[in-house]
Amino acid sequence: MRRPLPELASYQALRSHAQEIEKRSLRDWFEQDPLRFETFSRELEQFLFDFSRNRICDKTVDRLLDLSSECEVKSWRDRMFSGEPINLTENLPVQHTALRDPDPASGEPGGLQSRTLERMGALAEEIHEQGFTDVVHLGTGGSQLGPRLVCDAFSDNAQAGLSMHFVANADAREINCVLKGREAGNTLFIIASKSFATAETLANAQAAKNWLLQNGIADPGIARHFVAVTSRPERASAWGIPESQMLPVWDSVGGRFSVWSAVGFGIVLYLGMPAFRQLLLGAREMDYHFRTASPKQNVPLLLALLGIWNQHFMGTVAQVVLPYDTRLRYLPGYLQQLEMESNGKCVDRGGRALDVPGSAMVFGDVGTNAQHGFFQYLHQGSHVVHCDFIGVVRAGHSNRSQHEMLLSNMIAQARALMHGQTLEEAQARAQTAYAEHRVFPGNRTSNTILLRELTPHSLGQLLALYEHKVFVEGIVLNVNSFDQPGVELGKNLAECLLESLRSRDSVQGLDPATRALLDYYRKHA
Ligand code: F6P
Repeated sequence: MRRPLPELASYQALRSHAQEIEKRSLRDWFEQDPLRFETFSRELEQFLFDFSRNRICDKTVDRLLDLSSECEVKSWRDRMFSGEPINLTENLPVQHTALRDPDPASGEPGGLQSRTLERMGALAEEIHEQGFTDVVHLGTGGSQLGPRLVCDAFSDNAQAGLSMHFVANADAREINCVLKGREAGNTLFIIASKSFATAETLANAQAAKNWLLQNGIADPGIARHFVAVTSRPERASAWGIPESQMLPVWDSVGGRFSVWSAVGFGIVLYLGMPAFRQLLLGAREMDYHFRTASPKQNVPLLLALLGIWNQHFMGTVAQVVLPYDTRLRYLPGYLQQLEMESNGKCVDRGGRALDVPGSAMVFGDVGTNAQHGFFQYLHQGSHVVHCDFIGVVRAGHSNRSQHEMLLSNMIAQARALMHGQTLEEAQARAQTAYAEHRVFPGNRTSNTILLRELTPHSLGQLLALYEHKVFVEGIVLNVNSFDQPGVELGKNLAECLLESLRSRDSVQGLDPATRALLDYYRKHA
């Protein structure tokens, strides 16, 4: 069993090193080293990764790589890729990367994925031929966030005549809103649920079925309006979906890693199989980079180690994801689940309490909107938040002037956070009144990722980059990144409370606050 993180020699060395550089500022580092950007940036085929605005020097990177070695990241990485059951609590391998390698020649699971892709393509063709105009994807969490992000990002290139909608919430208002004005005969529902037991998804599926029935679609014809994506075909079958309308997901693929599986069927329908294959290819290239690049050049490894450095040694409390491109507006939510559901844990693989900070809190929004939301806090708040800026060089539209304005905002924000503004500078800017309110501490860290252009291929790379980042962080923290027991307790309790909420009588045996809320509901419902 691995020793707790704080006992590792490399972790202790990082602690001493953090004290050594505590007084150094990013401003000074940049002034003293004109080559800082060159040292702390990496260029891959399709993007630039700039991490020069972290509070690091060469020694920091060396020490972080020592930590990676002591935590045996490389060997864990190889164990994941070779299909060992590294998902300890569920005794499962972790096989989302195999989904990006649909090669029958490589045996299973590559062959299985290859057959699934063929099946997805054939089913998509059948569906297109039937003249559906609206596809409603029903699913939540990882069974929704990825397909929604990808479909939304490339909606300009959608199949003609098809609209795509997503419904996740238990709130019936969401599905009502989507169904309003739709033509039942032309509407197809994808029920994406690995477990085929998620209450929200099944409630929405039932609402969809009722809506079809109320709008003149009767049995047996109703079956053609549903496609189920699940690892529990027997449950989907009991619900009424024929086998011909089912697609598989593997148990060894976690929900938040499942966009590459048949959970992404909506992407195939909406954007076409070539786009889906490009997404997989981009991710596969990132897998290759992660497996083969040397530690100093390995972008996911560096990104993860910087995350640990900021969170554990530089006192950041959260990480904010800031895509400066509306096509990536759903990326913050996607990465939030990826990181927080994977590593938001306080127990290590050995069942011991994790007595160091766990994963960062992740939130974000699209730039420039975010600037008018929470940037005040980022610049002058009393807690330090690390930023990941993500921009796209080629806009993909013709308004270059406005795109340049957008990117200049992104680059300016990263500089302002790093550089700050002293009292003298504030005064010199003729802001004599209340100048002390205009002091920016600076020294606030960020990474910048610049994609040359946004395509399914580059998005595949980007998502896989963050997946591997989360993986490495999990290994360093020594948590199991592939289960999510934390979502169970509230879910189970909600099932019990639902009965209480529906019953007429006040329920005994609950705490007073819970009972009072139920009583209040019953009284006023
Ligand atoms: O939020 C918990 C969770 O299990 C996620 O991991 C998953 O993405 C989501 O619920 C949906 O689960 P399912 O695909 O089984 O409906």
